[in-house]
Amino acid sequence: MFIDIHNHLLPGVDDGVKKVEDTIKELKRYKEYGVSHVIFTPHINNPSVSNNIKEIKNTYIKLKKHIENETGIVTYLASELYLVPEYKEFIPFNDSFVLIEFPTRVFPVYTLDAIFNLQLEGYEVILVHVERYRWLFENKKLIQRMKEMNVYFQVNFEGINTEEGKFYLEKNLVDFLATDNHGTDNRKEVDLSLFSKYSNITKKAIEILEIKSPEKL
Ligand SMILES: [Fe+2]
Repeated sequence: MFIDIHNHLLPGVDDGVKKVEDTIKELKRYKEYGVSHVIFTPHINNPSVSNNIKEIKNTYIKLKKHIENETGIVTYLASELYLVPEYKEFIPFNDSFVLIEFPTRVFPVYTLDAIFNLQLEGYEVILVHVERYRWLFENKKLIQRMKEMNVYFQVNFEGINTEEGKFYLEKNLVDFLATDNHGTDNRKEVDLSLFSKYSNITKKAIEILEIKSPEKL
């Protein structure tokens, strides 16, 4: 029983999958690899993606039953929030977890403040594709600070073998592995066997989400 906590498989709402048929096809493949739960995490506030929360929620409400009936996968809706100061709109997972991303090239000076503000509001923070931030990798004190703040780190499947990914894995700093699956229109197919290959990490995901969420999955 695995869960993919980060992907762009909710169709037609961001730069991910475009058609619901493709979502269904991909989720059937998930099922074959023992993935039983999926949290859709469309981009929100990302400068290169234009969409809005209402559209995302409506799409999910409209398609949830159909997708679940066709695939047997349990789905949830959250979002991947491009975090900037004072931006308040996002969809937390189970009212508890917020997935965040940052600009990749330069260190955003507001990083810790913005994370802390989310935590003050009662959210658990998951930093997605942590391996992409060279400014973080090169600042071990900042990594330590984030861990002291109990920020969860997520590495993408495609980042597992990068220099940064290997570092986070070796140091046991990875809480979640996820696909960040955008479909196969412009990208190659995700290797879903990695859920079992890294089951020492992927098995923990449901545990973490259940422990920290007010409601059970
Ligand atoms: Fe993503």
